[in-house]
Amino acid sequence: MNKHIILLPGDGIGKEIMESAKQILNAVAGEFGHHFTLHEHLIGGAAIDQNNTPLPEATIEACQEADAILLGAVGGEKWDGLPAEKQPEKGLLGIRKELGLFANLRPIKGFPSLLYASPLKEHIIDGSDILIIRELTGGLYFGQPSERQENGDAVVDTLYYHRDEMERIIDKAFQSARLRHNHLTSVDKANVLESSRMWREIVSEKSSEYPDVVVEHELVDAAAMKLITQPDQFDVMVTENMFGDILSDEASVLTGSLGMLPSASVRSDGVGLYEPVHGSAPDIAGQGIANPLGTILSVTLMLRHSFQMETEAAAVERAVRESLEQGYYTADLDIKHGRPVSTEEMTTAVLDNLSVKSVSDSICNMYV
Ligand code: IPM
Ligand code: MG
Repeated sequence: MNKHIILLPGDGIGKEIMESAKQILNAVAGEFGHHFTLHEHLIGGAAIDQNNTPLPEATIEACQEADAILLGAVGGEKWDGLPAEKQPEKGLLGIRKELGLFANLRPIKGFPSLLYASPLKEHIIDGSDILIIRELTGGLYFGQPSERQENGDAVVDTLYYHRDEMERIIDKAFQSARLRHNHLTSVDKANVLESSRMWREIVSEKSSEYPDVVVEHELVDAAAMKLITQPDQFDVMVTENMFGDILSDEASVLTGSLGMLPSASVRSDGVGLYEPVHGSAPDIAGQGIANPLGTILSVTLMLRHSFQMETEAAAVERAVRESLEQGYYTADLDIKHGRPVSTEEMTTAVLDNLSVKSVSDSICNMYV
């Protein structure tokens, strides 16, 4: 298959982990007979430095033509003093909105060999396998007005959702639950917010179209608590933009390895933007020690969700799992013994484990 992929390394460690992703994509193309064209563009602070804007037109145009996009990370203290519209994060929010990537998928599943590093007791986190689905292009993040009023003494952020925006993300969540364990937890604040009451109504209406999916409604504060006390009770969670941002950060550390977690931001036609959940980590940028696995696993989400390359995705996931089992750990993984490996060494380990021949007898589908 021919696929056209745009790479947006961004800032901080984004550049280093993107190098790893390129090697993995090239290896997958070689092993499986695909042709991937890879083109890099600017976003975030790097784009501000060169073009005085976090999201240049050239980047938007290139992404609009792409089959899929891979992003490293944006942000860093260097740009802290700039006005709101010049913040690196605006580049990320802008590209999500421009491309209509309304569904953010954040799978949270630990690798058995890393569970000791979880802040939770191992028996509590063991067996947890959660997919958080976050609405990504509406709600408080994009409501108008969002401004200071009364000479700066008052402030308003608007939480606006149209029914259509809620319906499409809730549909996506039901469909994802069907591909997993048929259990959907809808998270809202219906005891306080009108938007949440409408959200809950729509989830209830939709549930009659998916009678095979068990639905639960959970208030966001209770959901935050249960993520810590009973994470294995969740399968698919669906929620609006702001709640999803907060809950997914909370959930992401449960497996003991934020540096491992991938994410996908997709729309209905399969085009998607894939990125690791971790940030740009300016404190370790340029040292060659960043964990590339969150990005490499984001590549697996791209292969699966945008290209329907299930075998290829499973082969990369298996190579990651095997590399960890062989004792390769980057410094963030809090190893108990031995020397942490560099970004490049970890990438090489995954490449070495990535081979076609034994795929068929060890298919693993970590993330659906
Ligand atoms: C995320 C990030 C972004 C968000 C920031 C960088 C704007 O926290 O992807 O979760 O809030 O959506
Ligand atoms: Mg976040």
